[in-house]
Amino acid sequence: MDSHKNNAQSEAAPVIEIRGLHKAYGPLEVLKGVSLRAPRGHVISLIGSSGSGKSTLLRCCNLLEDSQQGDILFDAEPVRWRGQGLGRHPADRAQVTRFRTNLSMVFQQFNLWSHMTILQNVTEAPVTVLGQDRAEVEERGRQLLAKVGIGDKCDAWPAQLSGGQQQRAAIARALCMNPKALLFDEPTSALDPELQQEVVKVIKDLASEHRTMILVTHDMRLAADVSDHVVFLHQGVICEEGPPDQLFGAPQTDRLRQFLSATMAA
Ligand SMILES: Nc1ncnc2c1ncn2[C@@H]1O[C@H](COP(=O)(O)OP(=O)(O)O)[C@@H](O)[C@H]1O
Ligand SMILES: [Mg+2]
Repeated sequence: MDSHKNNAQSEAAPVIEIRGLHKAYGPLEVLKGVSLRAPRGHVISLIGSSGSGKSTLLRCCNLLEDSQQGDILFDAEPVRWRGQGLGRHPADRAQVTRFRTNLSMVFQQFNLWSHMTILQNVTEAPVTVLGQDRAEVEERGRQLLAKVGIGDKCDAWPAQLSGGQQQRAAIARALCMNPKALLFDEPTSALDPELQQEVVKVIKDLASEHRTMILVTHDMRLAADVSDHVVFLHQGVICEEGPPDQLFGAPQTDRLRQFLSATMAA
């Protein structure tokens, strides 16, 4: 396996596996046969230029988008489809719900509910979607907010928090579902540089706890620090992938070299 950190665990079925995924929006082919594995406890980073299909891949993974060809498996269980091509959809709603509740997504724009307090944001889905006991969930929610460094903000409204604090609340909300994997879509891109670091620290803590994560990021230093495996997506295909030392230290393709020099210069 690619990782030096988690050899024993990589033998088991990956938490998420994508095989040969194709996705088009009408005539626009966005993913052209992408395969990806997220073994338990590993961090997979997805890098690439804007428009290369990173968000689309995450959204397909979470079954927020349909795909036309290829397989998506969670713990070795494949998504069941009906129909073909642009008419292909998941066949089993209960399966979709079960898979989706095992994945939590963190978005670039935080997407907190503005009419709920921070604690309510964190507890809402475990109580209403998973039917868990409110008092227990609130206890867990308070602990998670403390863990991400905003334990004093439980009763605040999202608008009263900085961007970095809002994003940390969104991460606590994702964790409160006890997901099998976390999906991050450019979690630091909307933040000023000094606020990015407080979110980076939380993501690094999660990586060191061996949370399974797929991380889309433009922050190459973060990707280099936390990843077991880095995937460089270019125009809907994986152009190059490997351990971070190799991808950042000895890129094999001109495309990746160009991307890295452009990104580092920015
Ligand atoms: N809902 C949509 N409808 C049509 N085209 C889309 C939609 N979402 C994304 N796209 C297109 O798919 C391509 C990949 O987008 P995206 O996955 O957002 O890339 P990235 O996250 O790497 O910047 C882009 O050309 C984008 O314009
Ligand atoms: Mg994107």
